[in-house]
Amino acid sequence: MRTIHRNTMVLALGFTPLLLLQFGCATAPEKPAAQAEPQFKGVVPINNIMVSVVDHNAHIIWNASDPKKAPKNDQDWHALEHAATTIAVAGNMILIPGPPKDDHVWVADPAWKQLAQEETNAGLKAILAVDHHDLKALEAAGDDLVVTCEACHKKFKPALPAHVAKPNEQPEHYHKAAE
Ligand code: HEC
Repeated sequence: MRTIHRNTMVLALGFTPLLLLQFGCATAPEKPAAQAEPQFKGVVPINNIMVSVVDHNAHIIWNASDPKKAPKNDQDWHALEHAATTIAVAGNMILIPGPPKDDHVWVADPAWKQLAQEETNAGLKAILAVDHHDLKALEAAGDDLVVTCEACHKKFKPALPAHVAKPNEQPEHYHKAAE
């Protein structure tokens, strides 16, 4: 069951345009509801996911390497597990374009998909490290994570190092797209 579900996700995320090309005509046989691919709708700009989800949780992981902020109890490890899991799924979240036009351009780029996957991989590595309460491994996962942030920003957001956006602050192009 799991494998089938995962394949469905891959189809939905990776090959939707192809499916539409192949099966988008009026004669396409209707799929039973249970087999229909889930429809994704990006509800916030990728920039917001960056600030609220990716950046926020990445810092929780990176902070654990600071001796003053190292996890001391179950609650601290639980918070790290939350952050690592969120980073892993955020790699999928940024495959769904939000309202800004740029989002659609970015997610269509194979390099974006690869970098998003690498973010997920770093998150999965962090989850394993947290499972084993292994701070060294968590630090290594955090290092992988920095590499993906920097590689993607270098290619898609050359203006970084950027500040963390304040609430309600939007990139200029978001206002344009929303008009
Ligand atoms: C797959 C590409 C990609 C990855 C991976 C990525 N980013 Fe981003 N990030 C972007 C893009 C593109 C923007 C600019 C979005 C915009 O301006 O609409 C951005 C914006 C941001 C912003 C907001 C900057 C601002 O000017 O407000 C922060 C903060 C940020 N990223 C942090 C991170 C961190 C931390 C990581 C790694 C843990 C990371 N990002 C990983 C592509 C990525």
